Amino acid sequence: MNKEQVLDHLKSINYPGFSRDIVSFGMVKDVEINGDQVIVHLNISSQNEKKKQEVVDAVKKQLSGHFNTVNIELSAETNQQATAPVGDSPSVLGNVKHIIAIASGKGGVGKSTVAANLACAMVKQGQQVGLLDLDIYGPSLPIVLDLHDQPKMTQNKKLIPLEKFGMKVMSFGFISGNDTPVIWRGPLVSRMTEQFFRDVEWGNLDVMILDLPPGTGDIQLTLTQKLRMAGAVIVTTPQDMALSDVRKGADMFRKVNTPVLGVVENMSGLVIEGEVDTAVSTIQINGSQVQVNHAGKFSFIMDLFKKGGGEKESERLGVPLLGKIPLSEDIMSSTDAGTPLAAADPVSSLGQIYLDIAEKLLLSIQ
Ligand SMILES: Nc1ncnc2c1ncn2[C@@H]1O[C@H](COP(=O)(O)OP(=O)(O)OP(=O)(O)O)[C@@H](O)[C@H]1O
Ligand SMILES: [Mg+2]
Repeated sequence: MNKEQVLDHLKSINYPGFSRDIVSFGMVKDVEINGDQVIVHLNISSQNEKKKQEVVDAVKKQLSGHFNTVNIELSAETNQQATAPVGDSPSVLGNVKHIIAIASGKGGVGKSTVAANLACAMVKQGQQVGLLDLDIYGPSLPIVLDLHDQPKMTQNKKLIPLEKFGMKVMSFGFISGNDTPVIWRGPLVSRMTEQFFRDVEWGNLDVMILDLPPGTGDIQLTLTQKLRMAGAVIVTTPQDMALSDVRKGADMFRKVNTPVLGVVENMSGLVIEGEVDTAVSTIQINGSQVQVNHAGKFSFIMDLFKKGGGEKESERLGVPLLGKIPLSEDIMSSTDAGTPLAAADPVSSLGQIYLDIAEKLLLSIQ
């Protein structure tokens, strides 16, 4: 059996809890074959020892019929390991396994859109998901998810989150009308933020996604001090990538020992789609050759800014680039219509980008 055949065998092993195999995840770094012996070098950055062991066992089982000795070399190169929170900072959310904050240095870069789509994508991955809009002054979730109901209360005066697209959702936008329960009126922003955790009946969740307001202000600090967060994702646009915004955000989270799980470059390039005569097989756009399919359709992502900026910047900051999401009419119209693309059309190429980022995130916090 040669290296390629070994890799083919390993492609049948999915990472536990995922529909994706360990080879395409990039976890198989190398395969060495010496006669009857094979050494498989695995790189699994997950913190979950049980899952790592499951992968090791599956690899051994898969190859033991073909080699006398199967050795596994495990490594865990990772840009950033999850660190424990400072002191004994309490987790007010005992039954929520992982909290991920979606943050950005400045406003309007697409945090809420990314947060909603990633939450929907995680539901598709079989996770129990909560999505909490912490933008008290400009809540977006009522629009992004087309949700305008008033949450009901439990007997012990806890708010019951609304449900949509298979996840639990809460936003100040749901309770800011005249019918707002008294205990929710008037507290300071930091108290309000706490209340969203303490006085909401979240139940059991695998992941809670927080849609933060822009910047590095009070809410961000309250959160990082009060909660044990799995980490933060920083959303940026290509033109801000090189500015100090991303660095400021990353530094703030690091100072309070919250790992930065990665950067998402949003509005990165422009999707150009169209149709031409079916006799044409390629066309030229802006100096690039673009393939036309049998139905005469083509789709192309045009870079509007310097290519590769995201990669370079994320490397400089020492955080992974989780993905690039192009500027797209479909993303905007689906968000503005209250049906995030990752829920409306998860198999589309754009939907797939969100699923991919969600998968990477889930993997890094397991
Ligand atoms: N990839 C994209 N392609 C096209 N439009 C997008 C994309 N991402 C976001 N948008 C649009 O940009 C606008 C701003 O997005 P969004 O509200 O998610 O930003 P935000 O960072 O949460 O803003 P704020 O800082 O005000 O909370 C929305 O109209 C949204 O539909
Ligand atoms: Mg927002």
